[in-house]
Amino acid sequence: MDKLLITGGSPLNGVVRASGAKNAALPILAATLLTKDLITIKNLPHLHDITTMLELLGSMGCGVVVDEKMSVQLDISTLNNCEAPYELVKTMRASILVLGPLVSHFGRAVVSLPGGCAIGSRPVDLHLRGLEAMGAKIDVTGGNIVATVDGRLQGARIFFDKVTVTGTENLLMAATLAEGQTVLENAAREPEVVDLAECLIAMGAKITGHGTDTIVIEGVEALNGTTYPVMPDRIETGTFLVAAAITGGKVKVIDTDVKSLEAVLAKLEEAGAKVACGENWIEVDMEGRRPNAVNISTAPYPAFPTDMQAQFVALNSVATGVGRVIENIFENRFMHVDEMLRMGADIEVMGNTAIIRGCDKLKGAPVMATDLRASASLVLSALVAEGDTKIDRIYHIDRGYECIEEKFGALGAKISRVLN
Ligand code: UD1
Repeated sequence: MDKLLITGGSPLNGVVRASGAKNAALPILAATLLTKDLITIKNLPHLHDITTMLELLGSMGCGVVVDEKMSVQLDISTLNNCEAPYELVKTMRASILVLGPLVSHFGRAVVSLPGGCAIGSRPVDLHLRGLEAMGAKIDVTGGNIVATVDGRLQGARIFFDKVTVTGTENLLMAATLAEGQTVLENAAREPEVVDLAECLIAMGAKITGHGTDTIVIEGVEALNGTTYPVMPDRIETGTFLVAAAITGGKVKVIDTDVKSLEAVLAKLEEAGAKVACGENWIEVDMEGRRPNAVNISTAPYPAFPTDMQAQFVALNSVATGVGRVIENIFENRFMHVDEMLRMGADIEVMGNTAIIRGCDKLKGAPVMATDLRASASLVLSALVAEGDTKIDRIYHIDRGYECIEEKFGALGAKISRVLN
């Protein structure tokens, strides 16, 4: 199994381009199930999760043509089944995103119920309750969610008990072809939800209020094809910027979405970085300094994203002072901490809070990736550690970071993929 070998100690310097956002690309690919017209999605990141979603669409009989620039043309007119099997869902929970579009467009969906996950229990009850409110009949049998409706789904007023990103996306997609008006209250405001809504609007959907906590959808009878480019990845961008800050370097990320990173940039400035922004680029310059510790509390957008939490635990571990990081979204999202302790970090976890006392140096060690964002924090720790770090189970990293060794390598990191 591949591993990443990183020799720490070089400040990162240079320019890197942000890839397309995985978390926008996945719902947008699922949304193509809502039209029988040809549809083209551009700026897809080259990632395992994207391949899994394309494989899932292909397994339903959809025509999938990918070009070398990661544009994909999809033809749903050849769809011959509405099933997302366990083999694919177990490798990618976001497969649940096909549920809403399938039942709304074809009146039937069979989607394997996603099981537990490394970072917490992650139920999908709010997705199911919302579809039921729209008139779908939901049965869970043999580990599958079976959703059916006679005729069209019916518009409904749906209040989310908890802010859920993929839950909002599933019901947003389902509502576009429902009869009448749907109002989603306490909806997720994440930029990826907005990107999905913009793609649906380009397909002919009638949506207002996306980007706020109340989204209103007037159902239409059919959606049309379009060509839509996926937004840049704010989490990948943030990870490169933290890499600059943690190594005392200077990194400019281009072709990115500046506005979606406000909470992260504020924390980088607090950590002592000089942050400069243009229309579609961000530069972080640490001028060789050691970062100051920062306190973080994760919450739904526009607050600080849980997907950047692990990276800031890494930053705090070599900072001056003590940082407190509170994880409010997922119950078990500190698994990177045990691995970072192996590298000499001083971190204490109590419930959903990590207290990190910055140390002068981390030391390279063999460590194991446990989930996608945890693995990013191990790469960051390794970049600043003394000596070699070998990271095992990097398939987690490949789910979310495109060509990670090429991109970090181009910024001056000593990083390579090795077999043993
Ligand atoms: C999405 C992102 C993930 C990010 C997360 C939070 C994708 C593909 N993934 O995951 O990278 O970390 O948002 O920003 O976009 N919940 C329920 N019932 C539900 C649904 C969610 O209780 O039906 C809870 C979850 O357990 C969690 C919280 O709500 O505690 C937020 O989860 P949610 O926003 O749904 O995360 P995902 O959409 O799975």
